[in-house]
Amino acid sequence: MTQFVDAPGVIDLSWGHPDPALLPVGELAEATASALTRYGPQMLAYGAPAGPPDLIEYVCERLAETDGRAPRADEVVITAGVSQGLDVLATLLLTPGEQVLVDVPTYHLALRILADHPVELKAVASDHDGVLPDSLCAAVSRGRSGGQTVRFLYTIPTFHNPTGRAISLERRRALVEMLIDLDLRVWEDDTYRELAYDAPPPASLWALAPAGLVTRLGSFSKVVSPALRVGFVTADQATAARLAASGLFDSGGGIAHFSACVLAEYALSGRLADHIDGLRAAYARKRQALLTALAPKTDERAHWTTPGGGYFAWLRFPEPIADDKLAAAARRHRVGFLPESRFHLGDGFASSAIRLSFSMYEQSELTEAARRVVGVLDEVHSSRRGSAIA
Ligand SMILES: Cc1ncc(COP(=O)(O)O)c(C=O)c1O
Repeated sequence: MTQFVDAPGVIDLSWGHPDPALLPVGELAEATASALTRYGPQMLAYGAPAGPPDLIEYVCERLAETDGRAPRADEVVITAGVSQGLDVLATLLLTPGEQVLVDVPTYHLALRILADHPVELKAVASDHDGVLPDSLCAAVSRGRSGGQTVRFLYTIPTFHNPTGRAISLERRRALVEMLIDLDLRVWEDDTYRELAYDAPPPASLWALAPAGLVTRLGSFSKVVSPALRVGFVTADQATAARLAASGLFDSGGGIAHFSACVLAEYALSGRLADHIDGLRAAYARKRQALLTALAPKTDERAHWTTPGGGYFAWLRFPEPIADDKLAAAARRHRVGFLPESRFHLGDGFASSAIRLSFSMYEQSELTEAARRVVGVLDEVHSSRRGSAIA
C-alpha cells in the first residue's frame, strides 16, 4: 500500500520518508472532522485556483517567522507538493530544447521530474557551500555561446538532499548577485526549511532576491504527511498568477483542495506548530543516534559533517568506490543506502559518498544500521587493500 517496501531483516537507509510513528494520524482525523464542520460543502467543491485563503494566510504568517521575508497572499500558490510544483513550473515556463542547470549532487527524483520535459539538463559543480560560482558562469556562457537559452537553475540551498548542507547567508547573497548579473532564474527547493535541529537556517534565496528572480517550492510532506500531497510556491505576483491561471488549475480548481483545507484547519488551530517542534526534537535524536554510532569507527575510511537539519547524512570516502561493490557489501550486511552516482546526471559516475537517511527508523535501529555501514566500509576497504597488494 505504501511506496516503501519493507525487506525483513534489512535496515534500509535509502528512503527519505517520514517516520510512520511521527505521522499525526489522530490529529489529522480531528482536523478533518473539524475542517468539514467549518468549511462544509465548500471543502468538497472545486477549490479556488491559488488554494484555500486560510492556508495561504498560514504560509504567509509562518514564513514571516521562519524565513527572511513574508510573502504577500498574491505571491503564494498552493501546490500538490514540491514534485507537482516543479513539474507544473517546467510545463508552463520551459520551451523544448532550452537548458536547465542543476548543481550536483542533487535530489535524484527532481532530475527525473525535469527529465520528463523536452529540455536539456546541464550539471554545475558545487561544494560544501553550494553552487560553485565559476562553474555556474561557465555553464551559462557555454550554453549561451552555443545559441541555447539557459532558463533556470534548480537548487536546494537549505538542508540539501543528499548532502544535508545548508549554504551560508554570505554565499546566498553572492549567488543572488551573480544570478542578477547572469540574468538567470532559479527554482529553489525549500522542502526541509522547517526541519532545523541546531539553529534556524539562513533566509531563502527567494527572500533575498529581487522579485521575479527566484521561485521557491515548499512542502508539507516532511512536516505533516506526504500522502496529503500539499505544498506551496512563493513567487513574484506574475508567476504566481500564471500558475493559478494554468489550464490544470482552471480545469481542476485549486489542487489538493480537500487536503489543503484539512491542513489549514490543523495549522490555524496551532497544533501544527507544536507538531513541528516535536518533529525537530525527534529527528535531531535520530541524527544523533546514527552519527554517534558511526563516529568512533569510520576515521580515515570515511568522514562527514553533521547536517544542521533535514533527513540526510552524507558519508564521504577518500576515493571512489564502485557502486556494484558497495551494493554487494550492503546486501551482505543487510543495510541500504544510496550511492553518490544516483544524484548526478548520466551514467558512469564513480561514487565517493553515500547518503544515509536517518528519518524512518528508531534510534536503536539507527545504531545497528551504523554498525552495519561500518561493516560495509570495512569490507570494501579490506578488499581494496587486498587488491592493492595483489
Ligand atoms: C529535496 C526534495 N524535494 C522534493 C521532495 C518531494 O517533495 P513533495 O513530497 O512535496 O513532492 C523531496 C522528498 O524527498 C526532497 O527531498
